[in-house]
Amino acid sequence: MTPSRQRSSPPSSSSPAQTGSKRATRTLSVTPPNRSRSNTPDRIESPEWFPAARPEPQLLLRDIGAATARPSLLARLTRKSKKRTLACLSLLDEMSSDEAVQSTNDDASECKRSAVRLGYWQDDYIQILVRNSEKKPPEINRGYFARTEGVNLFIKKFLKVSGDKCQIISFGAGFDTLYWRLREAQFKIENFTEIDFPSVTARKCYTIKRSKVLLDGLGTDGEVRLSSTELHGGNYHLVGADLRNLNEVATKLRESEVNFNLPTLFLSECVLVYIESSSVSNLLSWIMSRFTSCMFINYEQVNMCDRFGEIMLENLRARGCPLSGVDACRSLDTQTNRFISTNWDGAKAWTMVDIYNAIDPCERHRIEKIELLDEQELLTQLFQHYCICVAWKGHVFSSIALSDYDD
Ligand SMILES: C[S@@+](CC[C@H](N)C(=O)[O-])C[C@H]1O[C@@H](n2cnc3c(N)ncnc32)[C@H](O)[C@@H]1O
Repeated sequence: MTPSRQRSSPPSSSSPAQTGSKRATRTLSVTPPNRSRSNTPDRIESPEWFPAARPEPQLLLRDIGAATARPSLLARLTRKSKKRTLACLSLLDEMSSDEAVQSTNDDASECKRSAVRLGYWQDDYIQILVRNSEKKPPEINRGYFARTEGVNLFIKKFLKVSGDKCQIISFGAGFDTLYWRLREAQFKIENFTEIDFPSVTARKCYTIKRSKVLLDGLGTDGEVRLSSTELHGGNYHLVGADLRNLNEVATKLRESEVNFNLPTLFLSECVLVYIESSSVSNLLSWIMSRFTSCMFINYEQVNMCDRFGEIMLENLRARGCPLSGVDACRSLDTQTNRFISTNWDGAKAWTMVDIYNAIDPCERHRIEKIELLDEQELLTQLFQHYCICVAWKGHVFSSIALSDYDD
């Protein structure tokens, strides 16, 4: 267990006026936004040039972990890593660190798609947002299963405590499909707002606008307010903002009609690690000062000080991803401290080892039969290096704990 502490066209930003004034339906035709900004050459999209765009550490770790465990693999895997590293280094002068961070969304969503395709969990929407994804190794699929189940577990606890009159704000949402999955499961939420960099929201907007399933899922008969980077339809809001810029975040939340007095769930999966600690502190303090009652679910790296953690960090840095917020990923204590020091009422954190063990045993047995896992030790190490931290403001959430699926 855990320490627990008590207390379309190329993407561009749009003005509020633009966002609010345009009306459109699903028949819009626009040019698909590129993965990265403007002059980035096509070769970034080419699998040959960029063999495996893999910024999330576990993918590279798989190579390293396997190499460590089986020297016979070392030469082959080292060659693969070198190829990727060289490709990354060549791109560094063209790809800003923000763009490298934005591209982590592609990896996360491709991994989710890979696991969904194999039946780890059900998500009828990810295939719309991610058209192509190669099959990932079993430990990656299981890792993403644990991540999704763990986050879902706490989301359901939040919804049970809050009732219908609540909101969800997803930071660095990427191509997450949570809104559509919750709606399909008949959960009622007053306001669901997703924030990411405009270049990422532009691509999500583009796909939503062209998908009947996603548009119908908004329940607005195709009536949405949109710009190239933002979409507002019914209780769903997708907005582009840099989370390091508080004024921008505050403005976008107001434009999304967020009610600061409703119980609100904040979500972030592998997002805060890319943001300077001081900016994360400002964001968390600001939430405290503005929202009456809220809960935060944060999934990201932990135990980054041991050798395994250092290798994870080295690999991420080699991709040009600045890990500006890594200080908070040293231990479960530093994860909870991030909230306690910004005046949240309390916080708890668990490694993914604990989270995985808390998942319904029937579900675990089901997914363990999907694929043979010959790297159990590596999976355990990965689980030891990721965590879920839950923090809250308001006593109503203080009883939320990691327990079996008892509710
Ligand atoms: C690893 S991806 C995770 C995406 C999604 N949360 C998921 O789990 O599928 C990290 C996301 O955080 C976003 N992000 C990172 N820093 C950000 C910032 N300063 N402002 C807005 N979004 C940010 C990236 O653009 C990217 O979409």
